[in-house]
Amino acid sequence: MDIRRLTDRLGGLAFGGDYNPEQWDAEVWKEDDELMRRARVNLATVGVFSWALLEPEEGRYDFDRLDAHLDRLHAAGVAVDLATPTASPPPWFTLAHPDALTVRPDGTRLTHGSRDTYCLTSPAYRRAARRIAAALAERYGDHPALALWHVHNEYVTLCFCDHTAAAFRVWLRTRHGSLDALNEAWGTAFWSQHYTAWEQILPPRTSQWHHNPGHLLDYRRFWSDETLAAYREQRDAIRAHSDRPVTTNLMVPDYQNLDLWAFGREVDLVSIDHYPGAPGVDAAAQAAFDADRARSFAGGGPWLLMESGTSTVYAGDRVLPKEPGDILRHSLAHIARGSEGALFFQWRQSRAGAETWHSAMVPHAGPDSRIFREVTAAGAAVARLGELAGSTVGAEVAVLHDSDAWWATTVDGLPSAELGYHPALRRAHRALWDAGLTVDFAHPEHDLNRYRVVLAPALFLLTDAGAENLRRYVADGGTLLLQHFGGIVDERLHARLGGYPAAPLREALGIRVEEHRPLAQGEEIALSDGSTGSSWSESLRTEGAEALAAYTHGMLDGSPALTRHAFGSGHGWYLSTRLDDAGYTALVGRLLTEARVLPGLPGLPAGVEAVTRHAPDGRAWHVLINHLDEPVPLARPGHDLLTGGTVSRLPAGGCAVLRAL
Ligand code: GAL
Repeated sequence: MDIRRLTDRLGGLAFGGDYNPEQWDAEVWKEDDELMRRARVNLATVGVFSWALLEPEEGRYDFDRLDAHLDRLHAAGVAVDLATPTASPPPWFTLAHPDALTVRPDGTRLTHGSRDTYCLTSPAYRRAARRIAAALAERYGDHPALALWHVHNEYVTLCFCDHTAAAFRVWLRTRHGSLDALNEAWGTAFWSQHYTAWEQILPPRTSQWHHNPGHLLDYRRFWSDETLAAYREQRDAIRAHSDRPVTTNLMVPDYQNLDLWAFGREVDLVSIDHYPGAPGVDAAAQAAFDADRARSFAGGGPWLLMESGTSTVYAGDRVLPKEPGDILRHSLAHIARGSEGALFFQWRQSRAGAETWHSAMVPHAGPDSRIFREVTAAGAAVARLGELAGSTVGAEVAVLHDSDAWWATTVDGLPSAELGYHPALRRAHRALWDAGLTVDFAHPEHDLNRYRVVLAPALFLLTDAGAENLRRYVADGGTLLLQHFGGIVDERLHARLGGYPAAPLREALGIRVEEHRPLAQGEEIALSDGSTGSSWSESLRTEGAEALAAYTHGMLDGSPALTRHAFGSGHGWYLSTRLDDAGYTALVGRLLTEARVLPGLPGLPAGVEAVTRHAPDGRAWHVLINHLDEPVPLARPGHDLLTGGTVSRLPAGGCAVLRAL
């Protein structure tokens, strides 16, 4: 089953969003039909939060409303992405099964009244979730409106209850085989943590001081596996009655505690939700980051932007609006990178309830509004891009991503609070995005040979196999940049002995790190090439590499800070500090130049995004997005699918989708 079935069914790319008609009456539904037609909506996600209405009491279903909505949508030509409503159990469920409520690390048991308040390891919850998924599949599995299944909604909730403790122990037995092995892996010989019975092991609940790091990392791995098992149960219950593709909407990057590579292998199509955390061009860079990750988790193939906001930027303690034109620009940023459409949360802005102020496709002001006009324009644009369906996006550069490495940077007792995983990945991606490149993400153990340049920020945890793979990548001609505090521990979080990073990688980099010297908050350290480092420094010596820049004062005066090693037919670079922005951009630029990596569409100024989608039959399209406040002439005019005419310049803030010649 693949996404091609979805786009074939839709006759092109998807456009639409979450549709929650239970909030409205028949008059409004009638208007919805008309407005969806105007906006060219062809896919609506239905039922995400409908559990309380679908199953008003345990085991008694009321499908009348959903029947009517699916029939109505079908009549209106809108296909349905039908959700299982398991992200929000109804009040009756939690009253009947209080043991299925989430327990926080400090032991507080939450109560209903919000959403996502369930424990995935609770047998009652799992039974109820399977049951309603099966009931929906049985009833709607062959419904003519049905194009896609949407299991759950953003699996986000962690739990630390007794059910979790029991499931965690089962998982630990499987992973470690014996208590001796677990004790060895976690290093329990220290701090009197030695376990003599499985029952003694708890989820990492609130404790006096640092938790055992291996315990924390294993809990994260366990939770991801448990979530995947819960997803699979629903998926399989659905598949027993329906042959439509199944997905779950993933939230990237750091909100969702899941191994997204593993999820990518289990879903029929990868779908993500994207909400930027900053306005303007930073939002565009974030869209590219999430979209590139989604495509990578989809194995490089097409995927789907399941949710985004028409005017929602989550900026700390407030929600900022998007700029005029962002609806199309952001939609195209995802489509450019392989999304088979653009969907939003939600269709009509709620009049009441928890998300009254969340933006929507039809705002409170109604269709006579800038937002609805932009939605309509975006719908018309997406409708013109049908020929892109099934095409894919390639990249010559990659940033490494590994959930274990991410989770490893969140354990207690690390030497600095400035070792954040996603900020480091974002920065690496941003430097490549600014250079006009399309970026893949790759796992350290993937075959990396197709990439000319690989950036490895925040790779604190690296397995032996990963270290060997990176060594081989360089030997075979790749250009690798390992950044500070990389290759430091193995998958058990055991420190590498005899010098960092992991031995095979030291060979490829031609260096040996002896000592970490974290910097104080705000402290800077000057480098001989005029750049500055912050947050971190290291004492290292070269073992074959050449030093390109050295520290210039203090104990490290004269020691290498940045090195390059010609190894086999490639180059291993090592950066031992966090460079200032200009220095980092210049370094990445230098790597690209030396590895002869050019932007996909040369000749465009910085600030114009260009990504190419390729069809298997050789056709290709350049998606262009101008983030500048001025028009940009195009070196070669081309046929623009958005306007249907030839374009020779991109207006300020404008977009084009050109057929490649
Ligand atoms: C998503 C979620 C939606 C909605 C949206 C608001 O993460 O799946 O249900 O709450 O956020 O931004």
